[in-house]
Amino acid sequence: QTPLRVALLGGGVVGGSVARLLTSQADDLAQRIGRPLEIVGVAVRREGRDRSDLGLDPSVFTTDAEDLVTRADIVVEVIGGIEPARSLILRAMEHGASVVTANKALLAEDGPTLYEAAAEHGVDLYYEAAVAGAIPILRPIRDSLAGDSIRRVTGIVNGTTNFVLDAMDTTGAGFAETVERAQALGYAEADPTADVEGFDAAAKAAILSSLAFHSRVSSADVHREGITEVSARDIAAAQEMDCTVKLLAICERVVGADGREGISARVHPALIPLSHPLASVRGAYNAVFVEAEGAGDLMFYGQGAGGDPTASAVLGDLVAVARARVTGGRGPGESAYADLPVLPMGQA
Ligand code: HSE
Repeated sequence: QTPLRVALLGGGVVGGSVARLLTSQADDLAQRIGRPLEIVGVAVRREGRDRSDLGLDPSVFTTDAEDLVTRADIVVEVIGGIEPARSLILRAMEHGASVVTANKALLAEDGPTLYEAAAEHGVDLYYEAAVAGAIPILRPIRDSLAGDSIRRVTGIVNGTTNFVLDAMDTTGAGFAETVERAQALGYAEADPTADVEGFDAAAKAAILSSLAFHSRVSSADVHREGITEVSARDIAAAQEMDCTVKLLAICERVVGADGREGISARVHPALIPLSHPLASVRGAYNAVFVEAEGAGDLMFYGQGAGGDPTASAVLGDLVAVARARVTGGRGPGESAYADLPVLPMGQA
């Protein structure tokens, strides 16, 4: 059988895990898909680094991503950021490749451009790993709940801030010293801005809102407040009320002051009662709580970051895309029929 050609863009932590799992599970994956997968290239920023642990032929590494994406049936993008990721994904689609990406920033900023290109070229676009890492949440919202009506999605979708708030809750320490500890333990980046200021969670809220409400919501539409102002006193006050403080991404269907239906999408620290299931999400874990008309309450819980957990979601998408290639079918397209406006804070 002719293998399906896979190009991997990015050789970092997630890319490395994807490559390793693809190689070590090659036979199983071939069986599940009905055709083997072949990694035809891994685009990296610099050649020459020792990557022997990935189990790949050294000749697959290249710095020429533009060429690589024209030689693949499926392109897996795990470099992140807006450019060159967007241009490479669009180029891949123009050349007939389906795309699996973990790029939340790009989807939240310019998702519609990618969906339209996928539709135009008749290829698939999957991005389960973009929100809450290993947790299957986007496909359940997009596919499993497609016949239901979602009222609200409330998520702890940033592990770094959950780790910091949880550590403040446990130790009574202040924000700054807890972030330093989180950095020393490798839970927070050297520059933690995207996490602690809520940018990362806001991108995820935009993606969740778009899928849950069949609309177009971008990061700029999401009201955002991070955790930098949360003090040890706030945490102690929450404890006195049998509550805990979590950074929540809240996406809900609302009726505005003028009676129009719309969406409220916001990220901010919130007090939640200890009796709520989200209160039990400790450390760097993520969870997403979905309230739907028919299904009622659902909660999805797991690891939201890290090489192997994120690679698990990427590989799930890769198998789905590859199966579609084998059967000649297509995955679900994006729908934005509802086109609900995002109402500014205070108007919902
Ligand atoms: N910085 C993110 C987090 C990683 O802390 O959850 C996953 O997007």
